[in-house]
Amino acid sequence: MLRKIAEGVELFYLYFAVRGYEWLQQRRVRQLFYHDLQFKALDQAILKGPNPYRLQEAFPYGETPLCSLKEIADRCGLQKEDRVVDLGCGRGRGAFFLSHHYGCQVQGIDMIKPFIQRAQDLTEEYQTEKVSFSRQDMRRFNFSQATFVFFYGTTFSDKFVQELSRALKALPKGSKIITVSYPLEGFELKDQFSVSFPWGSGEVYVNGW
Ligand SMILES: C[S@@+](CC[C@H](N)C(=O)[O-])C[C@H]1O[C@@H](n2cnc3c(N)ncnc32)[C@H](O)[C@@H]1O
Repeated sequence: MLRKIAEGVELFYLYFAVRGYEWLQQRRVRQLFYHDLQFKALDQAILKGPNPYRLQEAFPYGETPLCSLKEIADRCGLQKEDRVVDLGCGRGRGAFFLSHHYGCQVQGIDMIKPFIQRAQDLTEEYQTEKVSFSRQDMRRFNFSQATFVFFYGTTFSDKFVQELSRALKALPKGSKIITVSYPLEGFELKDQFSVSFPWGSGEVYVNGW
């Protein structure tokens, strides 16, 4: 009985801790990025859309906070000329942000149809020519045209990551692969630092090829 109460209190605490974190993050997003009115409208449309955390097929879903994504992109020297792939882009918030903020071409890949369908609709509605989305398994993606890959995949199996790593070898030399929580075997570890996630501090690895 006592254990059940303790678990209930813990869940209650976690729920409000995450909601508080998200509220503070969104306040920062408004301060830092909403001066760009086109981005503001697009980002708000994403936030008002279907809740990705409630989509059963996407469970367990997570997103990189935009302020953390900016820290990562700045530290990795993301350039306008880069061709970015967001592996497992979810509803595409990060992909839209990177393209808007850095002016680079971004392709978002995900397996979940409602995510890709809605993201594609938004690219048309907001005429974001440098962002595209496709529904496919990231392990089958042809990386030969990309220069900057972002992979926030903390829940993938070792076998999955090995298969993905094989596909990533098609990247042009000099490309960067950013991973969260673990580095990629078979690539050169160029940098490592921490950024904030709703669940705590996450370790980011810059894998060079
Ligand atoms: C943790 S979310 C990351 C969202 C986004 N990249 C971000 O950082 O905000 C992981 C996403 O990977 C997608 N995913 C899982 N397996 C996949 C696969 N084999 N190919 C493509 N996407 C996949 C899930 O549908 C989910 O949307």
